[in-house]
Order: sequence, then structure tokens, then C-alpha cells
Amino acid sequence: MIFKKKPAALKSTEEMKQLVSDCNLRHIAFIMDGNGRWATRRGLPRETGHSVGARVFKKTVTTCRDWGIPTVTAYAFSTENWKRPEKEVNEIMRLLDSYIKEAREDNEKNRIRYIFLGDKSRLSDDLRQKCEYLEELTKDNRLTLNIALNYGGRDEIVHAVNTLISKGADRVTEDDISRCLYTSASPDPDLIVRPSGEYRLSNFLLWQSAYSELYFTDTLWPDFDEAQLQLAVIDFSNRSRRFGGV
Ligand code: IPE
Ligand code: IPE
Ligand code: MG
Repeated sequence: MIFKKKPAALKSTEEMKQLVSDCNLRHIAFIMDGNGRWATRRGLPRETGHSVGARVFKKTVTTCRDWGIPTVTAYAFSTENWKRPEKEVNEIMRLLDSYIKEAREDNEKNRIRYIFLGDKSRLSDDLRQKCEYLEELTKDNRLTLNIALNYGGRDEIVHAVNTLISKGADRVTEDDISRCLYTSASPDPDLIVRPSGEYRLSNFLLWQSAYSELYFTDTLWPDFDEAQLQLAVIDFSNRSRRFGGV
């Protein structure tokens, strides 16, 4: 019988657990970019890239959980992504809908707390209700998965300030704003990973990324596998974080 061997460079789950704990990686965030190019290069419709990307997303979350990373955030759809053709937007929403269905069914097994970051009011009533139901169903689970959906960093800050104004504030502090962000339940991300060879944040976690470590790779998201994830975490473990100190 032939066993498929792991590449020599791949560390075991136990080794990765130790590394994650040693470098205190509490929150990892992904800008899941490159689905369209991945598909186009293969002569496939962009939607196929999103479908493969959704599978990679699921796998990546499981791996992060196995390594003991308590909070994962994934950028699924930005406030600017509505500019895309209707067919593509509809397919992304359909994939999210089926992801949510699976998450609901797998709740007993996975024990993940789902939080949707972003303005849900622009989603269809049906999808918004499914998001809210999943948040409620999983609210006592320990490991957090934030899914940024109709999310924009600027929109989030404006929303936070308006929330404070509506409560009567005439001055605000950094803590006030942090408390009113969609991410209020999570620490700031330690590491933000962006695949696809683009070197920008594209309106992702603008406030929260003040001291995040950024990791870029040319790999397109549908090709992002465990080896890629290990490289990102190993790179993070070698960073020197000073937060403005010495
Ligand atoms: C990221 O992949 C997924 C979403 C923005 C929803 P893209 O669709 O942006 O893929 P590229 O960047 O066009 O290759
Ligand atoms: C960022 O990717 C948004 C998501 C991954 C959901 P985009 O493809 O929208 O970003 P730009 O347009 O390359 O900056
Ligand atoms: Mg893109």
C-alpha cells in the first residue's frame, strides 16, 4: 500500500500547537483573495474559484482550531464587493448560505462561536436571519470564528461612532470606539494573512490592525494549504513585536 507522505517541511499538529502557544498567536485573520484569478487561469468561471475557496476556508478554520488558535477571522465579502456582476455576488451569497447550513448541522461536533462582522442590513432577509440564528445558536462556544460579510473597516468605524452619538456621547475615547466595533468580542488580530500577491488591506480591520503583523504570499487562496499556513505562522513566530516600545 502506498501512503501519501507529508512533505518533510511540514510540522506535526503537536509541533504547531506548541509553536502557536509559544508565540502567543491568539487571533489570525485571512483576506481570502485570489479566487477569481485561480479560476480564470484554468479557463473556469470565477464562481468556481469561490466554490473551491469556500472549501479551503473550511479546511483552514479546522487547522487553526487543531493548532489551538482561539480566534479566526475571515474576510468573505467587502462593502465594495457589491460592485461585482450580479451573478458573481449571487453565487458568493449562495455559498455563504450553504456554509451557514453546514455550520448549523456541525455545531455539536465543532463547537465554534460564529460572529458575522459587517452591516447585515444590506443582506437578504433570509440570509440575515440565518446569520443571526447561527450567532445565537453558537454564542456559548469557546472558539470564535468571525466572518466579515458586507464588511468595511471605514464603515465599521463610522457605525461605531454613530452608535456612540446615538447614546448621547459628545466626545469619544479609543476604548469607546473599540467597544462599539463589530469585533468587540475579539482581541485585535495578531497576524493578518493576505494571499494572492496583493499588498494591501482592502478596507479590512483598519482600526484593529494598528499593531497586527502582516503576512503576504503570492499563492492564490484556493491553493492556500496547510503548508502555506505553517509558513505564515512560522514567519509570525520570528517577528519582534514592540508595540511602540523598545
Ligand atoms: C476573493 O477573491 C473573494 C472575494 C472578494 C469575495 P476574488 O474574487 O477577489 O479573486 P481575484 O482577486 O479576482 O482573483
Ligand atoms: C478583498 O479582496 C475582499 C475579500 C477578500 C472579501 P478584493 O479582491 O475585493 O480586494 P481588491 O479589490 O483587490 O483590493
Ligand atoms: Mg480579489
